Amino acid sequence: MNADLNIRESTQYDVAAIESLYPKAFPDEDLLPVVRALLEEPEIGMSLVAIADSNVAAHVFFTRCEVEDCDIKTALLAPLAVTPTYQRQGIGTLLVRDGLQRLQETGVQLVCVLGDPAYYSRLGFESEALVEPPYALPAEWEGAWQSQYLGDDAKACAGKLSVPPQWQHRELWAPA
Ligand SMILES: CC(C)(COP(=O)(O)OP(=O)(O)OC[C@H]1O[C@@H](n2cnc3c(N)ncnc32)[C@H](O)[C@@H]1OP(=O)(O)O)[C@@H](O)C(=O)NCCC(=O)NCCS
Repeated sequence: MNADLNIRESTQYDVAAIESLYPKAFPDEDLLPVVRALLEEPEIGMSLVAIADSNVAAHVFFTRCEVEDCDIKTALLAPLAVTPTYQRQGIGTLLVRDGLQRLQETGVQLVCVLGDPAYYSRLGFESEALVEPPYALPAEWEGAWQSQYLGDDAKACAGKLSVPPQWQHRELWAPA
């Protein structure tokens, strides 16, 4: 674990480093269009970077969303990337945990994610059956749609997750 890891909100000066991180972490997926769209309007959520050795080692974005007919503050965790030389050192875990803490402090009670359950279950996420993703998921991604309630008094929601335009692209919700 890197002793000097610093987690903070990203600024415009981090954009180039964040954009160069994604192709390295995801060589087979082009996440840059959605990453750019999110960073162009960061106020739609929270953009965090993990700085190690003065480098942007990891990035995560949490987008504010709504669940139809449910009045709790909700966020979508995506994307998350750790640059290859810093993977498997606990940085992704620390970054997500830090983000969840910050979200809870601002009153967010539900966080959804579409990702590998083997990874996200370690961070407290569980399979989500009541809140539906914005687009129907292919059968092979069953179990990849997960959520986590923050705090003890969050009431369970049911309904479709409503996402801002940056996430309203069907291809973002299906295998490449
Ligand atoms: C997936 C990712 C965000 C994890 O961040 P990280 O800082 O490397 O992971 P951490 O050090 O916090 O946690 C490591 C543990 O997570 C698990 N893990 C790491 N990458 C994983 C992956 N792609 N899928 C499932 N589990 C994974 C492993 O169990 C690992 O523990 P181990 O090293 O003891 O086996 C990061 O590796 C990454 O950006 N990878 C490239 C993109 C990718 O694979 N995305 C899929 C996301 S589900």
